[in-house]
Amino acid sequence: MKRILTILFSLTMIFSLVACSGQNEQSSRSSGSSNSSTEEITPSENSSEPTEQPDKPSDTASSKTPNEKTAEGKTLVVYYSATNNTETVAGYIADATGADIFELVPVEPYTSDDLDWTNSDSRVSREHDNESLRTVELEKSVPDNWDEYDTVFIGYPIWWGIAAWPTDTFVKANDFTDKTVIPFCTSSSSGLGQSGELLKEEAKGGNWLEGERFQSGASEDTVKEWVNGLDL
Ligand SMILES: Cc1cc2nc3c(=O)[nH]c(=O)nc-3n(C[C@H](O)[C@H](O)[C@H](O)COP(=O)(O)O)c2cc1C
Repeated sequence: MKRILTILFSLTMIFSLVACSGQNEQSSRSSGSSNSSTEEITPSENSSEPTEQPDKPSDTASSKTPNEKTAEGKTLVVYYSATNNTETVAGYIADATGADIFELVPVEPYTSDDLDWTNSDSRVSREHDNESLRTVELEKSVPDNWDEYDTVFIGYPIWWGIAAWPTDTFVKANDFTDKTVIPFCTSSSSGLGQSGELLKEEAKGGNWLEGERFQSGASEDTVKEWVNGLDL
């Protein structure tokens, strides 16, 4: 009797073990199918990718745009400077942007006596007092390859609150259509004021930005900080 019971118990155990192993196989398969359904969910996680993906192309686009711009259009820094302050700033801008540079040189340059604004009879004082005398002929008014430039910085000293008048000759002589124009000036204390606006009124076309005034002895860092902020 004891032996029969032992055999029955053993059979029960074997049956249970076989049944369990079958269940495990099923559950491991369903876990496999659950894995595969995870893979199917992944696309739905992937479906969030299109939301993220636009960031990537737009990142790529924004990193390309400046290069494309650099390849497409050139920058020119034009300046008039009587005592070199504006020339120095123009050089900083050209270095920061990789621009070409074009100096406005009057046929009859201003001497230090000419520039003596404390003398009411100096050249500059007479020109200031009589607008008809302010037409200053330049050695060269139209830069070489003018059409190749799509960004033009125009720099000048402030004379009695406005752009030194040799600058007007240049502005009147050129067509700025399709160009971005950025005035800049140096002065002892005056701001940019209406100087950029007045030049814009004399010019043919162009997208004129507000521009910037620099202290006569502005540092390279100050100028570069401004240039970088323009996001050209
Ligand atoms: C005739 C003349 C007029 C000037 N008028 C002004 C003025 O109205 N406001 C000002 O802040 N500085 C004035 N200045 C100072 C110059 O704008 C300043 O020194 C400028 O940086 C000179 O630039 P440049 O060295 O490129 O010629 C005047 C200078 C001259 C010679």
